[in-house]
Amino acid sequence: MQIYLSRPDITEKEIEAVCAVLRSPNLSLGPKLKEFEDAFSEYIGTKRAVAVNSGTSGLFLCMEALGLGQGDEVITTPFTFISSATTIMMAGARPVFVDIEPESLNIDAAKIEPAITERTKAILPVEVFGNPAGMDKVCEIAEKHALVVIEDGCEALGSVLNGKKVGTFGKISTFAFYPNKQITTGEGGMILTDDDNLADMCVSLRNQGRGKGDGWLSHERLGYNFRLSDINCALGIVQLSRIEEIMAKRRQVANWYQEMLATDDRLIVPIETDGCDISWFVFVVRLAETFTQQERDRILEDMKDKEIQVSNYFPPVHLQPFISERFGYKKGDFPLTESVCERTIALPFYNNLTKDEVAIVCKTLKEVLDGV
Ligand SMILES: Cc1ncc(COP(=O)(O)O)c(C=O)c1O
Repeated sequence: MQIYLSRPDITEKEIEAVCAVLRSPNLSLGPKLKEFEDAFSEYIGTKRAVAVNSGTSGLFLCMEALGLGQGDEVITTPFTFISSATTIMMAGARPVFVDIEPESLNIDAAKIEPAITERTKAILPVEVFGNPAGMDKVCEIAEKHALVVIEDGCEALGSVLNGKKVGTFGKISTFAFYPNKQITTGEGGMILTDDDNLADMCVSLRNQGRGKGDGWLSHERLGYNFRLSDINCALGIVQLSRIEEIMAKRRQVANWYQEMLATDDRLIVPIETDGCDISWFVFVVRLAETFTQQERDRILEDMKDKEIQVSNYFPPVHLQPFISERFGYKKGDFPLTESVCERTIALPFYNNLTKDEVAIVCKTLKEVLDGV
């Protein structure tokens, strides 16, 4: 029996909502778009929400709306999904990496200041694996240096730090709805901001540069087709309405893993620190420092051989060949990130994973570790 890394959780309600759109004449730019955006901005607590067709397009439009480009630098973390860095590059700007803090695995706010130059325009922090730790400190540094915060909340829908929701730390922020995320629209993303000018610009940019009230064939600027269809929005509306239930299910799965793995001193198991309310995206354990990357890779293979899907979230972004070649980053530049990346194991994690399945995963992992 395969135990999957991730599975979506789609109920009859989602299926009915999608079918209702399919029976309507409004497959795109219809009423479900506004309904999804309104529900989302209300949930996060921002003035505006702009739906787009992926988290990547959302982050890229944040850069475009802010006018970032050639000659600008954006500080970010090398321990993230690739889009955090590639969207900076798509805009023509330079990603400047800063090493991570070893507990939360988020960008280390204490290391940001030395990386700031006269070309630095923005900081792009990521709540990695859903953990919001340290976002307040990043915002303090940004404010001190008059830098914009572009918050990549793609993995952290519903997370809260000291009473403040993820998505409200940045001047502009983005979420993503690929099927492994807390909520899914199949593919999709959402931009959040309190700034009407930025939101209006994103609305125009996602829709071929059309202006407010202009005709279908009038274009005010170079734009894109990053629209999210009403079919996707209908799915998103129902998923968002279930967010508390979804987060509770994921928290239960995380708690089972914590209970079953916490006492194994070969593993570092993720926990919530003071003030952090994690909306669990994935469950990533780390091997103790005594393990090598080769051993980790073998463990991943052994788990897969035993029909348990696992993954190596993430390899270091600065060492992806097209990034290291272009910007000159090399092994050793960010030792904490590199050390963490060598030892991560993402375990199967989704809403409807059962306690018995979690027990099988944990038992198998321990047996595989015994064999190393
Ligand atoms: C941190 C982070 N940023 C950006 C993205 C990009 O989202 P998408 O896959 O919807 O383009 C993801 C998606 O996995 C992510 O984890």
